[in-house]
Amino acid sequence: MSVENKISKAALDKLFAAALAARENAYAPYSHFAVGAAVQTPSGEVFAGANVENAAYPAGCCAETGAIGAMVAAGGRQISDILVIADCDRGILPCGACRQRIAEFATEDAVVHSAGPDGVRKSIRFAALLPEAFDRETLESEPIRAV
Ligand code: THU
Repeated sequence: MSVENKISKAALDKLFAAALAARENAYAPYSHFAVGAAVQTPSGEVFAGANVENAAYPAGCCAETGAIGAMVAAGGRQISDILVIADCDRGILPCGACRQRIAEFATEDAVVHSAGPDGVRKSIRFAALLPEAFDRETLESEPIRAV
């Protein structure tokens, strides 16, 4: 299911390096599953995040959430590529909740890159990960019945 990458090798390397470095700082004392993520905006800016767990488990945050927060805080509003890195045989893809968070900012042709410490393993279109998402248009569409 790998797609042809629209970003250059240099840009993908930069995204990988940012996610790898963030993963080094992951705070995962409970799951011991360290994750790093990096998003790239259409203008080429890169923002990274790592998972931040908490003794109150549901209060923990995914790496993707941190990367998106950093992008938004810097004024970014669009994600053209997102790379997620973990060390697992199966390969990592964003969890369901993070797919919804990514959907808020993903360009139509956004690509998700799944990586291990050795490099990118596969790249797939974000649209394939969350088809028919709940979105702004749904929220703002006309009600059929008044409540
Ligand atoms: N995690 C992420 O950071 N991103 C994902 O897409 C999946 C899961 C984190 C959350 C938690 O800290 C750990 O991985 C185990 O679920």
